[in-house]
Amino acid sequence: ALKLAIIGGGSSYTPELVEGIINRIERLPVREIHFVDVESGREKMAIIEALTRRMIARAGVEIDIKASFDRRAAITGADFVLTQFRVGGLQARANDERIPLKYGVIGQETTGPGGFAKALRTIPVILDICRDIEELAPDAWLLNFTNPAGLVTEAVNKFTKVKAIGLCNVPVSMRMMIAEMMECTPEELSLECAGLNHLLWAHRAWIDGKDVTDEVLQKVGDGATYTMKNISEEPWDPEFLKALGAIPCPYHRYFYQTDAMLAEEKAAAESQGTRAEQVMETEQSLFELYKDESLATKPTELESRGGAYYSDASLNLIDSIYNDLKSLHVVNVANNGAIPNLPDDAVIECSAVVGGWGARPLAVGTLPVAISGLVAQVKAYEQLTVEAAVHGDYDKGLMALACNPLVPDISKAKLIFDDILKINHDYLPQF
Ligand code: NAD
Ligand code: G6P
Ligand code: MN
Repeated sequence: ALKLAIIGGGSSYTPELVEGIINRIERLPVREIHFVDVESGREKMAIIEALTRRMIARAGVEIDIKASFDRRAAITGADFVLTQFRVGGLQARANDERIPLKYGVIGQETTGPGGFAKALRTIPVILDICRDIEELAPDAWLLNFTNPAGLVTEAVNKFTKVKAIGLCNVPVSMRMMIAEMMECTPEELSLECAGLNHLLWAHRAWIDGKDVTDEVLQKVGDGATYTMKNISEEPWDPEFLKALGAIPCPYHRYFYQTDAMLAEEKAAAESQGTRAEQVMETEQSLFELYKDESLATKPTELESRGGAYYSDASLNLIDSIYNDLKSLHVVNVANNGAIPNLPDDAVIECSAVVGGWGARPLAVGTLPVAISGLVAQVKAYEQLTVEAAVHGDYDKGLMALACNPLVPDISKAKLIFDDILKINHDYLPQF
């Protein structure tokens, strides 16, 4: 029998996870779920707990549900610890998005300076969680969803003994969208994925042993639906896609179409608000729905959030580990030579074989020069951010921003960094 600890249980995404557990109960004998949150998440977690009880009662499955602020109790004896918390809540995310915009820089929660700020707040907390896991559940798997997911997982790998895998819903979403445009089932499609989290390329796409990469690129260039709910659908230039020769992920728009994305963000910030500000409203109406005592399933309204297929990604991974399936998943794990351009301890997002022993990335080989430059630059930013976050090192932080391709100027990097340190003061004990 399995025990799951879910850190950040008050997330509006949790019903998706619960639904995923219920759907797989035959394969995954989950007997206990312990939600953990912090005082500011008290009300949200209580609503989630009540909805979860109704969902499992309706499905007729028996799972012991606990919800508390006692992280150590939740972790004790857990087989899987799932992290989906947001230090500082959506207000901190709104700051992350607005500060860079003030200086004409992309304001996004996971890429650019916004992701940097989120990493500085998150890494001390996740390392603390890992100390608890080392002590209370040393054999547990940590599945980290907390963004920036790749970078946060790298910090865990470098500074703790915990067995960790980072997860994102972008790879699954790419598979679903590409299958849709190619009019095949997601299972018929094979993608060779490699890169970093939110900087992922499908280097080749295959259907039935036939290389269909060029066809996919043509359809994306022709305007086939290809984005996440949180990323505006800026059209791709067909000539550029042909030259690139690999299928970019929706987040690549920030790197390859920076001007258009910046203009879109500025316009949104002035009219309907930044993404965080929009999500605050979505979240309120979701929790109004969740409170309704006649509701005992995951409502479709949750689809307006960017995290579609979140539960599939995480529970299929648990299935693979628990049932030793040795199946393919795209996950965030240590490189260990898969991409020779990068250090062994760099966390990459990559197609990997997953079984009872964890995830082993498939060898990618040396990346083409058109791609390796951007990957190296963003990885350098990530490595420096990890160092800055763990040691409270200002110089490393400044160089992290200087290395980030979305930050065009040192004077802006300094202004942004200083604003970040000031506004996040309460969440940055290391500085
Ligand atoms: P949210 O604002 O609802 O936060 C989730 C919960 O975390 C809240 O109830 C909050 O009170 C709680 N929390 C805050 N600090 C905590 C702490 N120190 N310990 C325990 N709980 C704490 O956020 P959300 O929009 O549901 O997203 C949650 C996280 O998951 C974010 O980090 C987000 O970036 C990430 N996410 C990642 C993916 C992915 O693809 N990897 C997809 C969706 C969401
Ligand atoms: C995508 C990303 C997640 C991110 C989410 C944001 O799905 O993969 O990492 O957290 O979008 O969605 P939101 O609805 O919070 O803007
Ligand atoms: Mn993601």
